[in-house]
Amino acid sequence: MTESLDPAPESPVEEKTRARSTPTSTVGRGKAIKRADLPEADQWSDGQTTVMFGDSLDHYAAWDAPDCIVSDGAYGVLGFEGDTSDHTGMPEWYEPHIAAWSARAKGSTMLWFWNSEIGWATVHPVLEKHGWRYVNANIWDKGIGHIAGNVNTKKIRRFPVVSEVCVQYVREPRVKGRHIKFWLLEEWKRTGLPVRESNKACGVADAATRKYLDQGHLWYWMPAEKFQMLVDYANTHGIPEGRPYFSQDGVRPMTSADWEETRSHFECPHGMTNVWSRPALRGAERIKTNGASGRAVHLNQKPLDLMTRTIEATTRPGEVVWEPFGGLFSASVAARRLGRRSFSGEIDPTYFHYGLERIIREAGQRPLL
Ligand SMILES: C[S@@+](CC[C@H](N)C(=O)[O-])C[C@H]1O[C@@H](n2cnc3c(N)ncnc32)[C@H](O)[C@@H]1O
Repeated sequence: MTESLDPAPESPVEEKTRARSTPTSTVGRGKAIKRADLPEADQWSDGQTTVMFGDSLDHYAAWDAPDCIVSDGAYGVLGFEGDTSDHTGMPEWYEPHIAAWSARAKGSTMLWFWNSEIGWATVHPVLEKHGWRYVNANIWDKGIGHIAGNVNTKKIRRFPVVSEVCVQYVREPRVKGRHIKFWLLEEWKRTGLPVRESNKACGVADAATRKYLDQGHLWYWMPAEKFQMLVDYANTHGIPEGRPYFSQDGVRPMTSADWEETRSHFECPHGMTNVWSRPALRGAERIKTNGASGRAVHLNQKPLDLMTRTIEATTRPGEVVWEPFGGLFSASVAARRLGRRSFSGEIDPTYFHYGLERIIREAGQRPLL
């Protein structure tokens, strides 16, 4: 998580919260900011960006289905009010959210799961259980500057941690609750045509039988134009009584555009790797309590460039980003700047307050066209 290394004077509108004995609070770390005045609204939207106060579990149903979810929730480090005190409680913490995401996700929805390495390891089985498939772990390397002067190497019994992970997941492609590869072969068999004829249908030597219709680990998501060829061939040459073939609604065969929707979008910028070297957030981007001169509002505020990187790679303009654990709504700000729509929730009134101000400021600078 991003640490504030530059404590600054307090603003008159907030008070420093005293340490409490409850284990589920950042307050014990003595860095929380509490804002006395109430937010001017408990939700705000201009049609492109929507932020809501409260538990996201109560809001998901009202949000448009996501193309991308950016999760930056509990880390098991008492990072914010309600974070768990270690990783052991994290599966229970995340499971209701993951179940809700899964219920609303499309086949093409991408998930970016931010966490510590042990936090992610603990939650990974829950993600798998709910149909999320691991793609890649990206490492945010904050560099030696992150710990400079803060580590006693004589006492520490591990190497100092300067990283977080941002793990990419996709939905497993499914039709009627089963992996799509089973449905593809079943549909082809319904046509009454020999399986090897699928190669002719797709205009390939043997890739259709060897990869597209394989039922094991060699299964390969076929290019959309090959899918269209397969569907057209089946509906032209297959037994007439069984038509339509490759239809999800029993009326209209799927098209190449429908097929594209079964897989998430990804565009890798040239020269990018899975190690993201970038210092923790400081300077003007960091939201402070009293403009530029106050204390950092949120210990976990994420850099906009990292949020932008993930959202830009996996969504197109106009698509929908969910940010279930909004904080200061960094993913929503990045989404807005990229012309994406977003929905976000934040449960803490103080963070919501500052986050709402940030979004309204952002909307003023970049109004809807
Ligand atoms: C790690 S921080 C996110 C920081 C954010 N990425 C940013 O850049 O500002 C997690 C946030 O999730 C909020 N939160 C925790 N549980 C929540 C829930 N059930 N619904 C909405 N927000 C929640 C916390 O109050 C905290 O501000």
